[in-house]
Amino acid sequence: MESVKLGLAGFGTVGSGLAAILEENGDWIERRIGRKLEIRTAVVRDLNKARAVNPGPDTEFTTDMTRLTTDPEIDIVVECMGGLETAYDLIRTALEAGKHVVTANKHLLAERGPELFSIARKSGKGLYYEASCAGGIPIVETLKSSLAGDRVLEMLGILNGTANYILSEMTTKGMDFGTALALAQDLGYAEADPTFDIEGFDTAHKLCVLSRLAFGVDYPLDRLPIQGITSVTPLDIQFAREFGYRVKLLAHARSVEGRIEAGVHPALVPYTYLLARVGGNYNAVRVVGNAVGPVMLHGQGAGDKPTGSAVLADILDIAKHMNRPGCEEAYRPDNTGFGNADLPEADILPPEEARSKYYFRFTVADRPGVMAAIAKSMADHSISIAQAVQKTDEDSEGVPVVFISHESRAKDVTDCIEPSTPWTSRFCLASASEFFKVST
Ligand code: NAP
Ligand code: HSE
Repeated sequence: MESVKLGLAGFGTVGSGLAAILEENGDWIERRIGRKLEIRTAVVRDLNKARAVNPGPDTEFTTDMTRLTTDPEIDIVVECMGGLETAYDLIRTALEAGKHVVTANKHLLAERGPELFSIARKSGKGLYYEASCAGGIPIVETLKSSLAGDRVLEMLGILNGTANYILSEMTTKGMDFGTALALAQDLGYAEADPTFDIEGFDTAHKLCVLSRLAFGVDYPLDRLPIQGITSVTPLDIQFAREFGYRVKLLAHARSVEGRIEAGVHPALVPYTYLLARVGGNYNAVRVVGNAVGPVMLHGQGAGDKPTGSAVLADILDIAKHMNRPGCEEAYRPDNTGFGNADLPEADILPPEEARSKYYFRFTVADRPGVMAAIAKSMADHSISIAQAVQKTDEDSEGVPVVFISHESRAKDVTDCIEPSTPWTSRFCLASASEFFKVST
């Protein structure tokens, strides 16, 4: 029986995770699709690097990327190296050479997805990307197929394992930011440039990809409001806890009278909600459909085997149609979930018009009138205060003061914060209606 032959670009965390699963579940996979999967070629940068997983003697390691697109034996090219230009060129060439492609590269899809989908449509080949969003969680297929008949009203999630790991370790173990980030890197969760994880860009890439599937429109990455977690301090985590919240990096998108409101920001989540309980490298996505209602998916958002599992799911989806008489000719992959049609640009609700409750932390001089002055400034900008707390510290010149507002307009909040104010931290406070409560 002929095997399906894979050409891998990259044999790092994701590539070796895939190879490990192929080794472990080989018989099971053969039972599923009636043939073997074989890694024929793996392209890497450094041939001398020790590899944690050995895919076997039949796999050739090379630095020559052209092998993946010129070898007629390779059926599916699997891009798990990351980056933009080289990955784009590889995927384009592979599709034009008549090969199906599976990729984990959300950065590339967010920036140049529409171009690549157009090339895939012309070549009639699959461009699959389950692993690009939320690691092992099958959210791409859920939006593309399982919820295809629903109009998605809103989507809210934790989409970055590294950021969630850092916040969890800071919250539960009092670990400092740098140590937690270094651990996340050691565990293979972080991007090659971890700035993408901690500044919210990786979450934003995933949100762009998922918004296309959920709303059928393209929300350009450069118009998405993005705030990462580097401004979150242990003090904020402590205050959040005192108010009954956990700090999480959230991605959200919703349809507001036909316009899309979306963004990435740290948020205080009531500790009784499921999203607040998502710890470590886990991700979770809550989708609300107009027919199905709320659906929540939870699982490991980063790491070798969870991500390898998502890559493998795509490979199997393609492989089961391949090299069978009559089947491959009839197979027309639906890469975008909209019959491969070009997606219109989203009608965007200006981020400054979005409404949310807010958490504010100030460092102020502990003297009469300070609280009143801040409260007046907030009132002047139509920001209504729901809760306030001040800590005293005899030994310090500045003391922290925290306010939680009622729902306010983002523009009023921005206008209220002048560069000269002593405000040191500001996060959205997600409204209660956006979350599940933990059922008992
Ligand atoms: P990684 O561990 O750094 O591995 C990257 C692999 O690609 C390495 O084998 C590297 O070769 C190879 N490579 C990089 N640039 C290359 C080039 N120009 N030519 C040839 N080979 C090259 O990265 P990763 O964590 O597996 O991530 C890979 C992709 O999956 C990225 O797009 C990432 O965003 C995405 N992703 C990662 C995770 C995760 O949990 N890590 C989850 C979901 C999606 P050497 O080994 O020789 O250096
Ligand atoms: N760096 C990413 C994360 C990998 O931490 O979530 C998974 O996409």
